[in-house]
Amino acid sequence: MTEERAVLVTGATGGIGTATVRLLRRRGFTVYAGARGRAEFEPGVRVLPLDVTDPDSVAAAAKRVAGEVDGLWAVVNSAGVIVQGPLELVPADEWRRQVEVNTLGPATVIREFLPLIRAGHGRIVNVSAATGRVAMPLLGALSASKAGLEALSNALRLELAAWRIPVVVIEPGTTETEIFARARAAADAALQQADRERVGLYQGHLAAYEKAMGRFKPGPVDKVADVIVRAVEARRPRRRYAVAEARTLGAILPKLPPALRDSLLATSLGLNHLNP
Ligand SMILES: NC(=O)c1ccc[n+]([C@@H]2O[C@H](COP(=O)([O-])OP(=O)(O)OC[C@H]3O[C@@H](n4cnc5c(N)ncnc54)[C@H](OP(=O)(O)O)[C@@H]3O)[C@@H](O)[C@H]2O)c1
Repeated sequence: MTEERAVLVTGATGGIGTATVRLLRRRGFTVYAGARGRAEFEPGVRVLPLDVTDPDSVAAAAKRVAGEVDGLWAVVNSAGVIVQGPLELVPADEWRRQVEVNTLGPATVIREFLPLIRAGHGRIVNVSAATGRVAMPLLGALSASKAGLEALSNALRLELAAWRIPVVVIEPGTTETEIFARARAAADAALQQADRERVGLYQGHLAAYEKAMGRFKPGPVDKVADVIVRAVEARRPRRRYAVAEARTLGAILPKLPPALRDSLLATSLGLNHLNP
């Protein structure tokens, strides 16, 4: 059995996941890098086959880790996808993928790894997004999935207080990873299959969304990894850590009166003057 504190990171092949795995390893943790496909890391990182949407895969991963360490210091749920597009045009299988990866995935990982977390006096770190607190148009499926993750985290925090297991939510700002290109490719594929007439109705929305997204300047992954590792290492972690770029959307908008918030969102995304 290992002497170092052990941490599992899901979505370890992603931009934020990879940076987090590397930083945790540099900080001296034994790191399990959960990956559903091929993954290569520096020596000392243990690649763990893990598809968060497959309960058998998650159970097998937990069994392997239980055979190698006495307990876990932290589980970082970073695996995630973005399903974008007007809700009228999001197909059922894309909706399902969104919720299965972003909401049910962490729930399954947490359920299977809780005995190890409890044994290791560990903590749970869920990577959410500002969309979990402020629903964004054209990102409705993502917003619903992250709002679900927020709710799950809040309920779990109270349930696990009996064992003093902290449940932390991380809110990255817009960060430079492949997640947006992947979302765009999946959305383009979905639009190809959708009814032409209904797609036509949303041309203005789609153009406004593209323009608005172009204004976001994504921040570096290392900044997010720093915040995640701070949450992993803190003696008394906070409930929530927002990376600087997320603060406007995630911290200020939820406090505004709903009508003002809707109006600000519609204006900033250029949806206020659409007249299809
Ligand atoms: N980037 C941002 O601006 C941003 C902002 C706010 C929140 N976040 C959140 O940060 C987290 C990490 O995102 P990222 O930007 O690093 O995205 P990314 O680079 O696209 O990485 C996503 C990771 O999730 C993994 N994944 C997808 N489906 C999976 C499944 N079924 N089982 C296991 N792993 C799966 C991917 O694995 P494969 O390589 O096998 O697909 C990849 O490792 C996500 O939860 C995201 O919502 C990101």
